[in-house]
Amino acid sequence: MALVSTKEMFQKAYEGGYAIGAFNINNMEIVQAVARAAKAQQSHVILQVSSSALTYMGPGYLKALVEAACEEAGVDMALHLDHGPDLKTVQLAIDSGFTSVMIDGSHEDFETNVRVTREVVEYAHARGVVVEAELGVLAGVEDEVSSATHTYTEPLQAKEFVQRTGCDSLAIAIGTSHGAFKFSGEPHLKFDILEEIGALLPGFPIVLHGASSVDPHYVAMANENGAAIQGARGIPLDLLRKAASLAVCKINMDTDLRLCMTGTIRKVFHDKPAEFDPRKYLGEARSNVQRLVEEKIQWVLGSEGSAKK
Ligand code: G3H
Ligand code: 13P
Ligand code: ZN
Repeated sequence: MALVSTKEMFQKAYEGGYAIGAFNINNMEIVQAVARAAKAQQSHVILQVSSSALTYMGPGYLKALVEAACEEAGVDMALHLDHGPDLKTVQLAIDSGFTSVMIDGSHEDFETNVRVTREVVEYAHARGVVVEAELGVLAGVEDEVSSATHTYTEPLQAKEFVQRTGCDSLAIAIGTSHGAFKFSGEPHLKFDILEEIGALLPGFPIVLHGASSVDPHYVAMANENGAAIQGARGIPLDLLRKAASLAVCKINMDTDLRLCMTGTIRKVFHDKPAEFDPRKYLGEARSNVQRLVEEKIQWVLGSEGSAKK
């Protein structure tokens, strides 16, 4: 089993009306949880790493962990740089064995976004690595960049952007946002934009960022055990499932894993105040994250069985 690019998995996902889950990994337990879920569900997965997570773990540790996970799971996976800020970070990721990179020029003007994305595509394609780009701005915070409002992706611009940059997939803004506080009113996504882009770019994989559902179960578990996370709200499952059945081939989730891990650890600390073995609370968190990822594969993504030869 190997770390592979997303090309083939996206093609199969597009044709099959499902999506591949991209789960942010920040430590060994999360890597193991995602890999075990992928094995149990025989599903492709994307292990994605933000530039701050890459710095936190260190490229050497990360590479060894991910290779071990892939081997143990027995399914092909992609290792993806999430929200790559510049060519330098992309180069570090590719030199460290990443099979897919994102260059996020979405906060730049259109022409600058085209130029930086084009540069990254040239560097990555020469090394067999695929590139995700982004057009449109999600509300919320990602790494150090934040925006108070959405700027929805304009379909004709998306077509021009893909043609001019040669990127392999495109993240679009249709109303999702990063973090745990996605909607103050009724959840709503702009499916008209997604459908228009799908019609203008047939067969081209679209990516949905900010796609955590913010499971009330884990928010409550955290709050009942000392957290102060009020007003959290995510994307309803049926909206994500609909997106996966259309042109969306990659769905990003980070917040759900963080809430699950934190809620579980807080509960162990509260229920067993004499416990101080990290394996006891991290191990329980790992089991819950595995269960969560398996549920995502079955109920949100529809990717179960996708890794079967
Ligand atoms: O979209 C951003 C991801 O949730 C990564 O966040 O930079 O805190 O690792 P991070
Ligand atoms: P969430 O904050 O909804 O989990 O989104 C994660 C993401 O888009 C990472 O790039
Ligand atoms: Zn994102």
